[in-house]
Amino acid sequence: MTNRDERQAALLELAAEVAECRRCPLCEGRTQIVFGDGNPASQVLIVGEAPGKNEDLEGKPFVGAAGKYLNELLVIAGLAREDVFIANVLKCRPPQNRNPLPEEIEACAPYLRQQTRIIDPKVIVTLGNFSTKFILKTEKGITRLRGQVFQTGRFKVFPVFHPAAALYDVKKRETLEHDFEVLGTLLDREHIDVPARCDADD
Ligand code: URA
Repeated sequence: MTNRDERQAALLELAAEVAECRRCPLCEGRTQIVFGDGNPASQVLIVGEAPGKNEDLEGKPFVGAAGKYLNELLVIAGLAREDVFIANVLKCRPPQNRNPLPEEIEACAPYLRQQTRIIDPKVIVTLGNFSTKFILKTEKGITRLRGQVFQTGRFKVFPVFHPAAALYDVKKRETLEHDFEVLGTLLDREHIDVPARCDADD
């Protein structure tokens, strides 16, 4: 898997498969799946938890208040939204935005794994507890893991608080914004080129 077009084609094929998914009961309540979107060849993959109400209606990740905040955070790291790929652990909205259940995560896991394989990022930014635990295969909580870089296989993983958790918590906002500054430094250090960062250097 090399160029952007090939990755995009592979993602479209996978998205068509996910659209038909009936692996868990969340399929009953969805308006549509939220597969994820962004640059299919990005070196930065952002992983959230699960779609909320707005995402379920629009079919895109992070389009509500947390999404607007995430866009601001990306700018702090020198990134633009269209230059990263954003996906969730779950592709369907849990009722009343409750936490994902272990069996839902297990049923949906192959899709995120396949997305990761296709995009083949250098850095995975995990937002909050569920995506961090899933990607790092750990039981440790986000408060202990955030702001540090972990190597898992070929990926660097950078866990941060979930933007929704920080929206109304000033202390968490400060921490999260600091962590996105650190992410910017990490991307520079790793010579990770995404268009917005190249432009910023010009
Ligand atoms: N929260 C998430 O984790 N993902 C979304 O897509 C929206 C809100």
